[in-house]
Amino acid sequence: MCRPTEFRVTYAINPWMDPTRPVDGARALAQWESLVAAYRALGHAVDVVEPLPGQPDMVFAANGALVVGDVAYGSSFRFPERAAEADAFAAWLRSLHVEVVPATHPAEGEGDFLVLGHVVLAGTGFRTSLAAHVEAATVIDRPFVTLELVDPSFYHLDVALGVLDDGRGEAPADIAYYPGAFSLHSRRTLRELFPDALLVTRDEALAFGLNLVSDGLNVVLPQEARTLADRLHQRGYRPMPVELDEFLKSGGSVKCCTMELHA
Ligand code: ARG
Repeated sequence: MCRPTEFRVTYAINPWMDPTRPVDGARALAQWESLVAAYRALGHAVDVVEPLPGQPDMVFAANGALVVGDVAYGSSFRFPERAAEADAFAAWLRSLHVEVVPATHPAEGEGDFLVLGHVVLAGTGFRTSLAAHVEAATVIDRPFVTLELVDPSFYHLDVALGVLDDGRGEAPADIAYYPGAFSLHSRRTLRELFPDALLVTRDEALAFGLNLVSDGLNVVLPQEARTLADRLHQRGYRPMPVELDEFLKSGGSVKCCTMELHA
């Protein structure tokens, strides 16, 4: 994760960002600290990468790479505003002894690559390119499933789809998604692969409910996604709501702030 000391909205590269709307820096920092505290209380280890001066979106660490085991597929940001982040995340991962293969096509890490035990779900349409899906599959030894995003409000896969259980434990893989964010053929793919998935409404998705981090039991999600939290509870999960609304001003929430180091 990356402390949001540089976090601001100074440009607009997604429909949520409005540079005329101020960010409360102290509040953002407190909210981010509470997310870190929530992870630690659940027993997860949190490492932090040093923020680069003048990179307001680096707090969204999910975008920094796709990491599985000791190998990572690096990022190559779609917009020049974020380009400098890629090397910073790569250098940090190398310091943790992760081998980083740089992307030669637009690729935004876990914003568009979601890792399950048997497959990586890969989003395209706004940020990560199709060519990056092919390239990433040569680096990460798992089948990749391309999913096409069609609604600009859901410009990254991790705002349209949340992994509830990656299927590496006893339970089968389980996901939640908002069908309207996907093209018709991608909806069909998701229906085929995950017939029992939790389908969420546009409102739940607009509350960034799908931008969640789950360990297969505890699901950390933004507190605004109340309906989704109730439905997760009914499904046997433990929803852990957190207050993270300062980051919504930049089009991000729980998952965006979190790069998971997958085993
Ligand atoms: N302002 C950032 C951008 O548009 C938000 C990134 C959110 N990250 C994510 N994983 N969805 O790039």
